[in-house]
Amino acid sequence: MTECDLNDVQALDARAREILLLNDRGGYTVPTDGLYPYQWNWDSMFAAWGFAAFDLDRAWQEVERLFSGQWPNGMVPHILFHRPDPGYFPGPDVWGRVGRGPLPSSGITQPPVAASFVRLLWEKDRARGEAEALFEPLLAWHRWFMEWRCEGGAIFVTHPWEAGRDNAPDWDGAMAAIEPTGVQPYTRRDTAHVDASMRPTKADYDRYIWLVERGRRLGWDEAAMAESAPLRVADPGMTFILMGACRDLAALGRELGRDVAEIEGWVATLETGAESLWNPSIGAYDGRDLTTGAFAGALTNASYLCWLGGVDDERMLATFEGMLDRVPYPVPSLDPADPRFDARRYWRGPTWAIMNALIGLGLAARGHEAQARTLRRRTAHLIAEHGFAEYFDPLTGAPAGGGTFTWTAAVWLAWASPRAREA
Ligand code: SER
Repeated sequence: MTECDLNDVQALDARAREILLLNDRGGYTVPTDGLYPYQWNWDSMFAAWGFAAFDLDRAWQEVERLFSGQWPNGMVPHILFHRPDPGYFPGPDVWGRVGRGPLPSSGITQPPVAASFVRLLWEKDRARGEAEALFEPLLAWHRWFMEWRCEGGAIFVTHPWEAGRDNAPDWDGAMAAIEPTGVQPYTRRDTAHVDASMRPTKADYDRYIWLVERGRRLGWDEAAMAESAPLRVADPGMTFILMGACRDLAALGRELGRDVAEIEGWVATLETGAESLWNPSIGAYDGRDLTTGAFAGALTNASYLCWLGGVDDERMLATFEGMLDRVPYPVPSLDPADPRFDARRYWRGPTWAIMNALIGLGLAARGHEAQARTLRRRTAHLIAEHGFAEYFDPLTGAPAGGGTFTWTAAVWLAWASPRAREA
């Protein structure tokens, strides 16, 4: 596959910067106008990585704004509602304002990529003091995960939105067991922005909202919510992302002269947990319902995050290479051979540039340079040919979901663009 024409690269770099600025709301970035009008946790950390390609001050500001919403118990919410916007559902009124955090926010978290991006920002300029100030907040968030979302060493989610992979098959079993009775009548807003065929189903949404209403009723108190919790699914994505983030936080801590023994202990615990997510019947890391013990039986793009976590798994490398041969626009969020595969429906098939970047960073860090380079090139071509979409059809490359998307622009600037490769 040839490199993009250099003129195109310059135009794409300029367009990607323009998208970040377009979605900047003054110190924080929305994922895309309309569909997602607030600050989302992991979207925002990808935005910081993208900003770091041309404005390091703005990059640090993005991280600081996210942590301005951290709860006293260490949790960093998945959405911060800085200003009201009636175009989004469920907004702050649905989550409830129970005084648990400094800002109106959701009551659940999202994949903890922040420490890894803070380390990358810090490596761009070690003289900066921001990493020093963020170390304790990051540590408190990771400690919250280990206290409230860790069982047998694996990280589990209590709401599919917490995983960031909303309608992935990992939670199908647990979601089917929920009877969403008593949900207040509601109107979805996402399907006013994006075709319903690209979004989760109504059955999914009823359960998403039912889970939010339960959390609000319990005041988002973790101990109360843990009692007869309706959804507890161990997630390879969360487990590997936190494992990688802990390694990065420990590396940062060592350079800052901090004691990192506690963090090293978490890494060892998470390594044990990851082993428990190996599903021999599909030969991959898999989601596991902690209530029933059942695996989801799904080869997803989260399965390939093992390298990001620091687990160098030859078995996954062979699977990854096979997938590259079979799928025109990798990495699909669900293997196309899976009967549940749906090429355009959000996390049930589409390719996500952010997941490609995380997989690629992991591959490169474990010395699998050739595979990392291939994934990076193919992601660059996907974006160059099909734009800065939220996600893409893995069979045709067709853009799907929201357009002018912050994290796709950020991944372009920080990782996929040939200019990023040179830098
Ligand atoms: N991704 C969810 C939504 O679609 C919330 O995080 O609104």
